[in-house]
Amino acid sequence: MINKMFELSIYLETRRVEIDRALQKFFEKGSMLEKAMRYSLMAGGKRVRPILCLAAFDAVNGDPAHFDMALNTACALEMIHTYSLIHDDLPAMDNDDVRRGKPTCHKAFNDATAILAGDALLTTAFEVLASESSLDGNTLFTQLEVIRAISRAAGFQGMIEGQMIDISSEKKILTSDELKNLHALKTGALIKVSLYTGAIIGNANKDQIENLCEYGANIGLAFQLADDILNIEGDPEVMGKAVGTDSALKKSTYPSILGIDKSRALAVKLIDSALHAIDNFDNKSDPLRSIARYIISRKK
Ligand code: IPE
Ligand code: IPE
Ligand code: MG
Ligand code: MG
Repeated sequence: MINKMFELSIYLETRRVEIDRALQKFFEKGSMLEKAMRYSLMAGGKRVRPILCLAAFDAVNGDPAHFDMALNTACALEMIHTYSLIHDDLPAMDNDDVRRGKPTCHKAFNDATAILAGDALLTTAFEVLASESSLDGNTLFTQLEVIRAISRAAGFQGMIEGQMIDISSEKKILTSDELKNLHALKTGALIKVSLYTGAIIGNANKDQIENLCEYGANIGLAFQLADDILNIEGDPEVMGKAVGTDSALKKSTYPSILGIDKSRALAVKLIDSALHAIDNFDNKSDPLRSIARYIISRKK
């Protein structure tokens, strides 16, 4: 029998279309606020976090009856991620003009609208997470745990703390431990919780949850490392955002501390650890294996 190779590009594209279709359903194209939210949300992100959530659900052989809950969670994760990008690009933060190949939200609208569009995406994410409850006690328990875990990962002990450290570290030289902590919070927390929530909605056992979280922590760090390397040597046309901005803002990054070669080697090591964490999983986790490799070879 010919063993059909897993084709990552087809998988990513199919999942992206599935997620985009689900995201569209939350909007009615009405007010200026909704236009600004949709503008950034539908501008063409890679959808890495929602895809990881769905891939984790599949990796643990999630019950198809719970797929809609996984898809809703995936949409909420993308809303939270997009809100973080809108705010990250504001003049008071990274002051960027281009995102996802288009003018940033505050450039296309204005600062106040961008702040509010971000606020509204964050709150809508939690409305989505709390919607369509089932009366089954186990499912309700899972739904509550999903909301708790995402709140924590996105908040002051997760992504926002990472953003705070990032902003307050400009013009400072961080140690590699400090940088690891910053990356784990700023980018790692939301990536890890994407896997965790996909896993628990798929009714994963304790070992599977632990392994997927370990995978998530490693690819999360590697993802930000790759972002920092792309900020130096990436093509802005392909990436849809500016390059050279980290050094202009005197941000500490792995490339600035270790140099590009050592940073790349560290990223490879992190991906090896991520793959090792899911060694015992069957071929339903092949997408996760390919995504791990893609994270450090991506050009955007
Ligand atoms: C960009 O995230 C910000 C980081 C955390 C590195 P992505 O690279 O996932 O951006 P989109 O969603 O594809 O635009
Ligand atoms: C993006 O971080 C925002 C979050 C991770 C919350 P960065 O500022 O490092 O990423 P880019 O380069 O603007 O996408
Ligand atoms: Mg930033
Ligand atoms: Mg930025």
